[in-house]
Amino acid sequence: MKKKVFASIMAAALAVSMLAGCGSSSQTTEDTGSAASETAATDTADTSEAADTTADASDSSDDGLITVGFAQVGHESDWRTASTNSVQSALSEENGIDLQFVDCDNDSAAQLEAVRNFISQDVDYIVIDPIVSTGWDTVLTEAEDAGIPVIVIDRTIDDSDKYVSWVGSEFTNEGLAAGAWLKAYAEAKGIDELNILEITGTTGSSAEIGRTTGFHKYVEDNGWNLIDSQTGDFTQEGGQSVMESYCKSYDGQFNVVICQNDNEAFGAIDAMKAAGVSYGVGGDVILISFDACKAGLTDVLAGQINADFQCNPLQGPDCLNIIKTLEAGGEVEKQTFMAEPWYVAEDTLPNISYTNNAGEDVTEDLIVVDQAVVDGAY
Ligand code: AHR
Repeated sequence: MKKKVFASIMAAALAVSMLAGCGSSSQTTEDTGSAASETAATDTADTSEAADTTADASDSSDDGLITVGFAQVGHESDWRTASTNSVQSALSEENGIDLQFVDCDNDSAAQLEAVRNFISQDVDYIVIDPIVSTGWDTVLTEAEDAGIPVIVIDRTIDDSDKYVSWVGSEFTNEGLAAGAWLKAYAEAKGIDELNILEITGTTGSSAEIGRTTGFHKYVEDNGWNLIDSQTGDFTQEGGQSVMESYCKSYDGQFNVVICQNDNEAFGAIDAMKAAGVSYGVGGDVILISFDACKAGLTDVLAGQINADFQCNPLQGPDCLNIIKTLEAGGEVEKQTFMAEPWYVAEDTLPNISYTNNAGEDVTEDLIVVDQAVVDGAY
């Protein structure tokens, strides 16, 4: 890859970001997994000068493949498996990519080391799904100094802007939507008191921070009783172990459980079953989850999870399009949000209205899950 044009890539990315208004200008994808591809297609047209520059970029390695290092979070959830599959199938040899994949096993130090190894290997691009949102500026400066563009997917990096593009979820909106749904659902069902137990994701990850921030706004604004909040680290085992302890400590005192991903919800379900707590449609406890993976939506269809707020893991095609666009000398968006629907078990409410993280008043449909929805899920 053309390290010598890295400066112009960063300049182009910066220019797009500045023109777009620094964070408020994000594009929203309309369909799963194709966000940057649309951006890429429109941005490559007027790049004759850059295209000349890329002539010496296509001879990136001896085999003609572009080398990409991907530092993945780990393998903690169904969502993560879908994310890994998406990136591995898009960044394939057939698509001109030699992908080096590292599973960082939810260890931030290992993830920094993986990125440094990619820099030492002088890969053409680095893709990072950051376990936590801070602690990145030094290593991203090292990548920049080495002339290696960094693409960030899914979770955000919040203490450095030394990456060319980010594609992922608006986690705060996911939490706000969950709060807005719970408020409207409780009103519709005549439930006046909400006593809530929360199982959060990996502490310090932007997925955890955003969902917590959004949902807690509703807790505070409505005076709901948040009895306890502990991390389940986005795993089924974590969700089960926290819920087992909740069932012992707060027996008969709660009527809402919110899990920050489906795998935690699966663990919480096992723990509630074992403790004789009824949950879901017609149960004593309203169960809320995030991700909306196939197994999660299967539980929504069965009425075991009341509402599931999607987090879209299919960023592989976006990564490929960003790389192809940069290779062609085009410009890419600094940030792109994935489109994410909200799923429910019952036909109680057609939609929810709330003020999103960008300060816009929005009304969004609720999708009642049927078999076709499950069949189409990731
Ligand atoms: O960063 C996305 C989150 O990480 C997903 O909600 C969760 O399932 C995964 O582990």
